[in-house]
Amino acid sequence: MAVIAMKCPEYKVTVVDVNASRIDAWQTDDLPIYEPGLLEVVKAARGRNLFFSTDIKAAIRESEIIFVSVNTPTKTFGEGAGKAADLQYWEKVAREILQESTASKVVIEKSTLPVRTASTMESILNANSRGIHFEVVSNPEFLAEGTAVKDLLEPDRVLIGAQQTEAGDAACREVVDIYAHWVPRGRILTTNVWSSELSKLVANAFLAQRISSINSISALCERTDASVAEVARVIGADSRLGARFLNASVGFGGSCFKKDILNLVYICESYGLNEVARYWESVLQMNDYQETRFVRAMVRGMFNTIVGKRIALFGFAFKADTGDTRETPALYISRMLLEERARLVITDPKALGNAKADLADALDRVELVEDPYEAAAGAHAVAVVTEWALYRELDWGKIYDSMEKPAFVFDGRNILEHRRLFDMGFNVYPIGMPAMKHFSI
Ligand code: UDX
Repeated sequence: MAVIAMKCPEYKVTVVDVNASRIDAWQTDDLPIYEPGLLEVVKAARGRNLFFSTDIKAAIRESEIIFVSVNTPTKTFGEGAGKAADLQYWEKVAREILQESTASKVVIEKSTLPVRTASTMESILNANSRGIHFEVVSNPEFLAEGTAVKDLLEPDRVLIGAQQTEAGDAACREVVDIYAHWVPRGRILTTNVWSSELSKLVANAFLAQRISSINSISALCERTDASVAEVARVIGADSRLGARFLNASVGFGGSCFKKDILNLVYICESYGLNEVARYWESVLQMNDYQETRFVRAMVRGMFNTIVGKRIALFGFAFKADTGDTRETPALYISRMLLEERARLVITDPKALGNAKADLADALDRVELVEDPYEAAAGAHAVAVVTEWALYRELDWGKIYDSMEKPAFVFDGRNILEHRRLFDMGFNVYPIGMPAMKHFSI
C-alpha cells in the first residue's frame, strides 16, 4: 500500500488494522517490520496520501477499492486440519465490509487463498438487499521478504484475476490503472479469477519444488565426490532451467511455501486427485528430510553425541535480510538439537526477538546473543542456518581461537570459504559437498 500511495499521489490510501500498536508503529520511524528501503517509501507518502488507522468501519465507508490482506493460516481444527486454509478472518472482513458499506465497491483478494474463495466471498457480499454490488477481484502478491520494495517497484509481473462479465471487466480496469502508474502494461497479466488464485499457489509450489529438487541432489553429492554448487551452476546455465533458486540449503522456510503447498494438496485431494496431491506433498517431505539430515550430520560428525555440547546457531530468520521466523528451518533444527540435549546459543542480527518468542518454553537451555563472536566463544560447533552476508565477513581465525577443539562448522547455506576454514583448523561440513575433516572417522 505504501508503494501504491507513493506511485499514485491522486489516490488516498488508508491502511487499517485491529492491532493498535502496529498502527502506531507505522506512524513512527521504527516500522513494525524490517524491510530494506521500506521506511523511505512510507515517508514519501505518509501524511500526504498514505494514512494508518484503527477505524476500520470509517475506512470501509470511505473507500471505493478495498484490498483485503488478512492472514489465512493453515487450519488447526476440524475438516482439513493441517492442510486447508483457515478462512475465518477473510469471512469476518467480508461481513464487516457488507455491514458498513453504503455504496458499491471493488474488493480485492490480496491474501493467498484457495481456488474459488473469491466466488464464495462474492456470494456473501452480494447477499444484501440494499442494491449494493461488490465485485471481487484476485490480485495475488509475489513479493519476497527482504526484497519487497524492489519486487514491488520492478515486478516480473502483476496478476489480476476478474470475472469475465461487464462488471468484472470494469473492476479489472480499475485495478490495472493503479499498477499502470509504474508497471509497464505488458507486465500486468489479467486472467479469470480462478486462474489467478491458482497461479499464486502454483508459483510458490514450483519455487519450493526447485529447492527440494536441488536439496535432494545435495544428499547424493555428499555421498559422492560431486559438489552441489557445481551441479547447480551447470544445470542453471541451461536457459530452460535458469540459474536462480538453486541454492541447496538447510531447507526452505517462510510463511508461504509450506502453507500454500498444503493448500494445493488439500484442493487436489478434495477433487479426488490423489496422485497429484502425493506429488506435491513430497516437496514438503523432502524439506523435512533436509532439516533432519542437517542435524543428523551434526550429531554424527561430532562423534555421535552432542549431549551438553555448546552449539552456536548463526542465524534464526528463515532467510537473510528479514527478522521473520515463520516456518524457519532454524526452529526445527533448534528443537532437534535440544532433543539431543545440546546447549544452544543463537545469534541473529534481526530475529532474536522472534526467536525468544518461538523458543519461549526452552529458554532455560537457550542463550540469545547479538554478537556472533560471543555466541561462538566456547562452542564446540557453529552452524550457519541463515545466509546473512555478515557471517562471511567475520574474523573466522578469531572465532576458531575462541572455540572448543576440535572445532566444527556446519555451513547450512554454503556461504563460507570452506577451504580457508579447513586450513585454519576447522572441521567443515558444507551442504551437498563432501565434509573436510582433520581426522578419519
Ligand atoms: C516466497 C516467494 O518467493 C514469493 O514470490 C511469494 O510472494 C512469497 O513466498 P519468501 O517466503 O519471502 O517469498 O522468500 P523466498 O526468497 O522465496 O525464500 C523462501 C525460502 O527458500 C527461504 O527459507 C530461503 O532461504 C529458501 N531458499 C530460497 C533456498 O533454500 N534456496 C534458494 O535457492 C532460494
